[in-house]
Amino acid sequence: MDTSRVPRHVGVVMDGNGRWAQRQGLPRTEGHGAGEVALVDTVYGALALGVKALTVYAFSTENWRRPVDEVRYLMNFNQGLLIRRQHELHADGVRIVFSGRRDWRVPKRVLKNMDEAAQLTAKNKKFTLNIAFNYGGRAEIVDAVARLVADKVPAGKVDEKAIRSRLYHPEIPDPDLVVRTSGEYRISNFLLWELAYSELVFSDVLWPDFRREDLYRAIEEYQRRVRRFGGVEQ
Ligand code: IPE
Ligand code: IPE
Ligand code: MG
Repeated sequence: MDTSRVPRHVGVVMDGNGRWAQRQGLPRTEGHGAGEVALVDTVYGALALGVKALTVYAFSTENWRRPVDEVRYLMNFNQGLLIRRQHELHADGVRIVFSGRRDWRVPKRVLKNMDEAAQLTAKNKKFTLNIAFNYGGRAEIVDAVARLVADKVPAGKVDEKAIRSRLYHPEIPDPDLVVRTSGEYRISNFLLWELAYSELVFSDVLWPDFRREDLYRAIEEYQRRVRRFGGVEQ
């Protein structure tokens, strides 16, 4: 691995929890629980390599379509994960932020823990963990456009900069690499604006089995790619 060409920002679609559980005769929700180890190992693996930011897709705006019990489990699980992990992440210099809609469907107690984790870690500079929660790429663009209108930006002043600056976290550079696990080859409404020029790597590993070595394999593949951004190779 070329440690001088490490992506600054990696996005991860953490997929395959339900299949992981079902393969072992367990209820789907057990797979979400087993994904915690994968997440923590991936965060620390990224940190150790010098990646500056990781955006993880934890709950999409479409995941509300799942059975109520699974949705409830996911709300509780994500809240518990913050409570369990925020102090060690804070001690290790991780800033925790969130991308997504704070709408009526997210329980108030979950929002409260999100705010606490964000506040606790707000000044950390080493690494940013961006948790995409109740996140949709289209919703993010819609919300940015709504802010443009609220800010009374005239049509002639609407450009990419004006939109980008109204996304959830404009301070985080676009992801250089987006990884999706579980052998699905789609984006599922993740970071639609931001991934315009990201390198995409798909892994067959189911999320609960994913470890930093799998991240490093994805980064090695990223390093074999030639990024042109619409230009020509020099
Ligand atoms: C990803 O795993 C986690 C969330 C979407 C919250 P899934 O629950 O989608 O697992 P599969 O894709 O059904 O196996
Ligand atoms: C994407 O996975 C969302 C998250 C990982 C949170 P899904 O499992 O919801 O995506 P689809 O339904 O397979 O496209
Ligand atoms: Mg899935």
